[in-house]
Amino acid sequence: MNKILITGAGGQIGSELTSVLRRKYGDDAVIGTDIRMPTDQALRESGPFESLDVLDEHQITRVMQQYKPDVIYHMAALLSAVGETKPHQAWQINMGGLYNLLEAARQYKCSLFFPSSIGAFGPSTPKNDTPQDTIMRPETMYGVTKLAGELLCDYYFKRFGIDTRGVRFPGLVSYATEPGGGTTDYAVEIFFEAIKHKKYSCYLRNDCSLDMMYMPDAIKAMIDLMEADPNRLIHRNAFNICAMSFTPEQLAREIQKYIPDFLIDYKVDPVRQEIADSWPDSMDDTAARSEWGWNPDYDMAAMVAEMIEKVGDKVTTMGQKRIH
Ligand code: SER
Repeated sequence: MNKILITGAGGQIGSELTSVLRRKYGDDAVIGTDIRMPTDQALRESGPFESLDVLDEHQITRVMQQYKPDVIYHMAALLSAVGETKPHQAWQINMGGLYNLLEAARQYKCSLFFPSSIGAFGPSTPKNDTPQDTIMRPETMYGVTKLAGELLCDYYFKRFGIDTRGVRFPGLVSYATEPGGGTTDYAVEIFFEAIKHKKYSCYLRNDCSLDMMYMPDAIKAMIDLMEADPNRLIHRNAFNICAMSFTPEQLAREIQKYIPDFLIDYKVDPVRQEIADSWPDSMDDTAARSEWGWNPDYDMAAMVAEMIEKVGDKVTTMGQKRIH
């Protein structure tokens, strides 16, 4: 039986990945780790969960020796906007953490998944149908670490034969765990504010188009890529994957189909707007489709329908907990 170790398992992607993998492979096969123990009791107690700082080699060794995983999903990282307020820390966590986990993968013979991002591209990259192999000159610390991370993962594959694989995620929309410090977070916040207060003040321009994806597709991509036949992979770090693109205005209009009196206004944050302006509107994901069968299930309409329902349930439960 394969054992799977997840870093950053309390985060936006890690928390949902942990529960999906536990359902698929059994609770004991999936070891969640995070620098903070998650507040979500089900996540903490449905299987092994360890406190792990990815910058602490001794802690990594202890966890590797105790659980002997075969696969690592290395999700611990700082996102783009927070990375601009703490560039030194973003470099340390994103690069130092990846280096430590790649070394663990080398010593303990594991495969490793690395989440890259649209953030690995920059203003000189073609914005539409962004090719798999193209100009990459990111101008954020986050982007620098994602691009360097892709190169380091490919290096470990070529030099040491470590089975490293990764995707370039677009902005991810989800309801279970909120993102923190990203440029694309508005696409999550807008649902909570629309349902709670029927209004949202957006920090990106109304016509700022970005590549986006709903979390179930993101989880499917990671698992399908890690389970793909290695003989079919021409690329490794990292594959463009694409599901939908929209602007804040288009998203607000779709939400108004469910909440007609929802209002959006714009108070543009120049830092996050500049980051968003340097990222693709839509990536060309032909390589992912042909090398491992990538095919998303959700477009914007399907994502919004489900988010309205799930965020609605969540807000109701949160309200009931406060009353009791
Ligand atoms: N969602 C990320 C961010 O906004 C991009 O990968 O930082």
